[in-house]
Amino acid sequence: MPFYVKIGNLPKYRHTFDKDVYFEEVISSESFDGPYSILYHNKEPTNFLEYEIRNKDAKMEEKYISQHSHILTQKIKGNGDFAYSRKYLFGNDYLSIGISRVNKTGDYLMRFGNRHLLAFVHQGDGLLETNMGSLNYFEHDYILIPKGVLFRFIPKGETFLFFVESGDSINFPQRYVNGLGQLKLQSPISDRNIRIPELRYSDLPVKKIIVDSGNEYLEYIPSSDPRDLVGWDGTYYPFALNALDQMPWVGKIHLPPPVHQTFDSKHFMVATFLPRPFDFHERAIPISFYHSNVDVEEILFYSSGNFMSRKGIKKGSITIHVRNLTHGPHPGKYKESIGKEWTDELAVMLEVYDRIKFYKGTDELLDKNYMSSWREE
Ligand SMILES: [Fe+2]
Repeated sequence: MPFYVKIGNLPKYRHTFDKDVYFEEVISSESFDGPYSILYHNKEPTNFLEYEIRNKDAKMEEKYISQHSHILTQKIKGNGDFAYSRKYLFGNDYLSIGISRVNKTGDYLMRFGNRHLLAFVHQGDGLLETNMGSLNYFEHDYILIPKGVLFRFIPKGETFLFFVESGDSINFPQRYVNGLGQLKLQSPISDRNIRIPELRYSDLPVKKIIVDSGNEYLEYIPSSDPRDLVGWDGTYYPFALNALDQMPWVGKIHLPPPVHQTFDSKHFMVATFLPRPFDFHERAIPISFYHSNVDVEEILFYSSGNFMSRKGIKKGSITIHVRNLTHGPHPGKYKESIGKEWTDELAVMLEVYDRIKFYKGTDELLDKNYMSSWREE
């Protein structure tokens, strides 16, 4: 989480009261040793009326993905609120990656029991409502919702999200951050562009809480509305950052994905390919080199612009380039790129450090000719 935030009316000291007694809830990571926030409620946050447990039906295939793949997410239609419109595409023990075309708002708030959510808004805008307040989101925002925060998406029309759910925390790369936790001057991201919730809520009712625990949903009816905060402070909170608010680094010759990094985590990293001028050496080859990235699975989500190195890729496509095969520009694209001065592409890349498997059902979305796309015609 980025920086210390204080919102609303708080007692002068932790776990004390001034005039009124509020119910203090500490939301804390890394066993009370990591980033935390303290929320002040009007009502006890643990009271509930009844609960039930339901199965969550999301299973992975047996085998790891071993060939380059192209997923046509455009075939997935919008079908509900965030929780139930999620379509997991692939993952492993540490993370799940998918898309969600949210076109409804549930009458509940959701909480991840064991996952942090990083969502990229491919299309659409709306309101992210959480128990810590609300923020407006826009096309091309990254939205980070840490484990344990209650939330829901309230889209205007339809919102198309590409997301990763991660058991491990998702942070800005350590090399971007100074000793006091501030993003450095040379970082592509500035603290100034991070948008945090304001203490305001929608008029929509909250009838229940749904906790996604990975294998099952625990649903309960709270005895009072959880949106009863008078304030909170700390460094653990949801936030948004627009991808286009990053200032990309450019080089004299082609630079590899780590220079485009936005987020870091234990089992993956996230980079953003932004509109930018190409390399400025007089004999630079602007397109990427052919590469064998032998320790990672490379995931690319194509959001907008012209994706120069790939044929047959559309907005919303996802490619997976696996570690066990070399990949690079499609035939003809390498020489074709020489002399190009600018790219308008916007794409999100994940380098995933452990092997991945498709979720059941993803095979129906695959472009069956993708491996053949490197064959000379
Ligand atoms: Fe690559």
